[in-house]
Parts: sequence; C-alpha cells; structure tokens
Amino acid sequence: MTAPLFLRACRGETTERAPLWLMRQAGRYLPEYRQVRAGVSFLELCKTPKLAVEVTLQPIRRFGFDAAILFSDLLVPLEAMGLAVEFTDEGPRLPQPVRTPADLGRLATFDPAARTGFVLETIAGARRELGDTPLIGFAGAPFTVATYAIEGKTSKGFGETKKFFYREPEAAHRLLALIGEATRDYLVAQVRAGAQAVQLFDSWVGVLSAEDFETYALPPTAALVAALRATGVPVIYFGNGAAAILDRVARVGADVYGVDWRLPIDEARARLGGARAVQGNLDPAVLLGPAAEIERRAREIVRRGGKRGHVFNLGHGITPDVPIEAVEALVAAVRSC
Ligand code: CP3
Repeated sequence: MTAPLFLRACRGETTERAPLWLMRQAGRYLPEYRQVRAGVSFLELCKTPKLAVEVTLQPIRRFGFDAAILFSDLLVPLEAMGLAVEFTDEGPRLPQPVRTPADLGRLATFDPAARTGFVLETIAGARRELGDTPLIGFAGAPFTVATYAIEGKTSKGFGETKKFFYREPEAAHRLLALIGEATRDYLVAQVRAGAQAVQLFDSWVGVLSAEDFETYALPPTAALVAALRATGVPVIYFGNGAAAILDRVARVGADVYGVDWRLPIDEARARLGGARAVQGNLDPAVLLGPAAEIERRAREIVRRGGKRGHVFNLGHGITPDVPIEAVEALVAAVRSC
C-alpha cells in the first residue's frame, strides 16, 4: 500500500496531484461546527474528546481534505504550564501574563498525559475514525506562544514582548527555552498518541527583525524541530509574515515549510534554499471573491508549487466569513489540476 498523498508530499516526493487541507479547517465557517459550538464554550469543546473528535472530522466529511488537523488551540499547553487562559468574544485573554523575570516561576514543563490527556484522547479517537486520512498534531512555535504569555492576548504591536526581550534578555531566553521544552514533550506525546505529522504555528514571527529572529526565535525553534524530527514524523513549520527572512527561517530545519501569501510559492521556496517541501500560499481573503478568481489563483499556485513536495493550503487560517461554496470551488480547482 502506498502512503497517503499528504505524507508523501511532506517527504518531498513527487505526487500525482497536490494534497490539500486548510489551516483552521475545523471552525466557524462550517454550519455543523457552529451547531456543536452553540451548546458548549470553546475551551469545553477543546477539552471534551468526543466533541473535539467530531469537529476534527467535520471538514473531512464535507470536503474530503487530504489531511485532518487536531481540533485544539495554541493556548492549551500554556494553560498546562500554569498560566490561566480564558476565551472571550474578543479572543483569548491571559489575566496574569509574564511581565517580570520573577513571573517565570509560575511556569513549568508538564506531563502531557496528566495535564492534556484530553488532547491525546482526541488524537486517538480521531485516528480510529479517519481511516486512510492522516492526522496532523500541532502546537504554537516558542516565539508565538511566548507572545501570548507576555502580552496576555493577541497583540498588534507586540510592544510588551519586545520590551521584555530587550530589558530582560536572559529571562526571555529562559522563557522561550521553557516553552520549547514543554512543547517538545507535548508534541512527542501527540505523535505517540497517533499524530502522523506535526505543525508548528509561528503566527506572529513576522514582527521580528532578522536579528531578533536569530537571537530569540530561532534557537528554541531549531532545538524543538530537531527533537520532533527524531520521532520520524514530518515536521511542518509555518511562519506567517516571514517572507523577508526566509533565508533565516530555513535554518529551523523543518521537513515542510508553510508559507504565507506575500511571495509566489516558487519564489518563497527558492529563498528557503530550495526547501524539499512547501505548503500554503493562497491568501485566505481570496475565498471572499468570486469562484472564477479562486480557481485562477489556485491553479497558479498548483503550477508554481510543482509536483514535487507540494502541499496545497492557505497562507493563513480560513476566516469565519468564508462561504462554503468558495471552499467547494477551491477543492474542485485543486483536484482538477
Ligand atoms: O486548524 C484547525 O482547524 C484546528 C483548530 C485550531 C484552532 N486554533 C481552533 C480555534 C488551530 C490549529 C488553532 C491555532 C491557533 N490558535 C493559532 C495559530 C493559527 C493561526 O491562525 O495563526 C492562534 C494564534 C490561536 C489563538 C487563538 N484561538 C485566537 C487568536 C483565537 C481567537 C480568534 C479566532 O479565530 O476566533 C482563537 C479561538 C479559536 N481557535 C477558534 C477556533 C475554532 C474560535 C473559537 C470559537 O469557536 O469561538
């Protein structure tokens, strides 16, 4: 039996067509997700394996995507490390963020089975239902998780994060290393529970200068990627807004690089030093436009991505306002290439 399309593309193999999944594919643009979510809070949904399995499967049933992604959130391991996390209508809030070196004393690595058993159960449960469709586990990359620990919410300017880095560099390195170690244990546990690939979301890395990327983000991320690759599953690193520093990004050592929409995918690949596999690139906002434009742009990405080591995806997560018909048009276009 040949391995699933998605896993072959992740390994840099040539595939008959580009496998396709979408970041944030399980979420509010799906009526069946909104229905489940009507009865429970977002964190309850993440922590109830039966429901989390159900929403993980929803986009696979509806669109037949070539990979499923664990339904959870980037902030789940931060809560397990000891920081309280709340989800409000305005997004996530951490009421006691890390602002001083002493605050680091409130954070610790954790036993994934003891603190995040619901995630491992969700993975095992989803695997039982998924058949041949591979399951991706995920976590935030150390820098992006650190921004939530320090800012206490999704930030615009990331002023608190940078202030902490520049005023307390030693504590900043300790925080990033600690998050990296906790994330390693957490993702190794996800792989043992059945995740067949893992993705690191570095959603806010684009706010860093090249120097700060090299100083703060790269060392803990490269160490994490190396430890994860030792498990044998493909490691995907998605850096949003990182087009200007892709030469440095390549040094994280991932199997697959997720790229946003700022550069054409072939140019991004060249700047990554010819990455063995790339994923992403369609601006999610294109899904708010007409079907003909979605098709044209999707075909262009398929052409530029090439047949070798190419996973089709968006350049960032799908937004709640995307119509189902737009996703149908996208799936049909990518499948017909
Ligand atoms: O991809 C998937 O379908 C799996 C599910 C998934 C969620 N969050 C579910 C979610 C994944 C992979 C994430 C990762 C995540 N979470 C990231 C990185 C990805 C990215 O988009 O850059 C980040 C930055 C977070 C933190 C987070 N979670 C924010 C900022 C928010 C609020 C903004 C928003 O989209 O609502 C969330 C909430 C969240 N995570 C929702 C979902 C489905 C919406 C919650 C709801 O149902 O009300």
